[in-house]
Amino acid sequence: MDSIHVYGGVSLQGNVKIQGSKNAVLPILAATILTKEMNVIHNCPRITDVYQMLHLLRGIGCYVSWEGNGVRIDAGNVNLSRMDAEAITGMRSSLFLMGALLGRVGEIVMEYPGGCCIGNRPIDLHIEALKKMGVHFQIGSEHIAASARDGLKGATIKLDKPSVGATENVILAAVMAEGNTVIEAAALEPEVVALCQYLKVCGARIEGAGTARISIEGGNRLYGTGYTVPSDRIVAGTYLFGCLGAGGNVMLEDAPVEQMEAVLSLAESLGAEYHIEKEGLYIQAPEKLVPIGELITAPYPGFPTDLQSIVLTVLTRAEGTCIVNETIFENRFRVVDALNKMGADILMLDDKKVQVRGETSLEGCQVMAEELRGGAALIVAGLMAEGETIIDGCNYIERGYENICKDLRELGARIHSV
Ligand code: UD1
Repeated sequence: MDSIHVYGGVSLQGNVKIQGSKNAVLPILAATILTKEMNVIHNCPRITDVYQMLHLLRGIGCYVSWEGNGVRIDAGNVNLSRMDAEAITGMRSSLFLMGALLGRVGEIVMEYPGGCCIGNRPIDLHIEALKKMGVHFQIGSEHIAASARDGLKGATIKLDKPSVGATENVILAAVMAEGNTVIEAAALEPEVVALCQYLKVCGARIEGAGTARISIEGGNRLYGTGYTVPSDRIVAGTYLFGCLGAGGNVMLEDAPVEQMEAVLSLAESLGAEYHIEKEGLYIQAPEKLVPIGELITAPYPGFPTDLQSIVLTVLTRAEGTCIVNETIFENRFRVVDALNKMGADILMLDDKKVQVRGETSLEGCQVMAEELRGGAALIVAGLMAEGETIIDGCNYIERGYENICKDLRELGARIHSV
């Protein structure tokens, strides 16, 4: 898929099923190599980042096959083959193979992980934490070599920031370490909880997932298992705000509402009505969006940075002026130029803050997606705009959305990929 064409001005209506969570499944796929057995991961989204992770797993000896919406991974044989550099550098989540391979075979050599250009994305917290667990690092200009030649040792690790990835990487290593590990100032994100749920079903002993203090008893044998990935709260949020931008009412089937408190609270402040029903989350857009003052992104349970660009887009329709304050990543306003090209009035106040003037009308034009969630924001802008919007660079969007065009067509949008 090269580009997406959207003909805007149609309100959304209907039901759509929310796919499995990208950020939950990626560390779980890496974790399967800790089991030496067959695993079946159900509700696995068919997105590029998952394909890349499966490619990396095959490269180190795992047997991988799709079965409906699930993927079977037999991790009986894992070897230390050199992993495909392009797949490593192409996504941030390849970093999970560090904790997992250290746990399984005690060493890894890899290129620096890549991912969306939304900031510096350092890996110092991962490295410092693993060092405390007895891992030796050789950091080169292109490669990182990590080795736990004397075995992984449990440790008490206090993270300087509640990094989601560092919390997950430490958990992956800690379940195989000798002794207990305690992570303090751990990330509270639901994806950390999902990883721990999966590992616990495999036989790991972990307490406190979802709190700032997680303790892990290392060294228990892990068995292969079946696990169903929870629905994606960011995809659900994308369609929710898409509905608020374009107008209408939608049912988001299987939306993980218990993980969406901050999102629902913002939707309510914007004037939306919602009902939590057995089949999912029903959203009704208001006639006019109420201004919200300031939106501040924050670690969970705060408002997710991954939905910031999408809300920024929707705020161009709200009454009055709003401020959006991004506190997690340094470079997460890359979408502003494209939105302004479409007729928005968004002013960069500084690197972390923008001011959005509401009640501006967006006009369709040709724009370029520069990263995953910014790309999704441009699709939402296309839904809201007059005329045709062409979004190029859509390979970024496929990293996280299984089939955003089909999903939105089910809600009545006029959208197709070329
Ligand atoms: C994960 C999510 C991403 C989401 C982000 C924040 C996955 C695959 N990705 O990314 O979609 O936007 O959480 O919710 O789950 N940091 C450091 N040093 C480190 C690691 C992180 O300084 O070693 C900083 C980052 O630059 C950032 C902050 O910590 O400012 C949070 O990053 P982190 O929670 O680690 O994000 P990711 O795990 O990369």
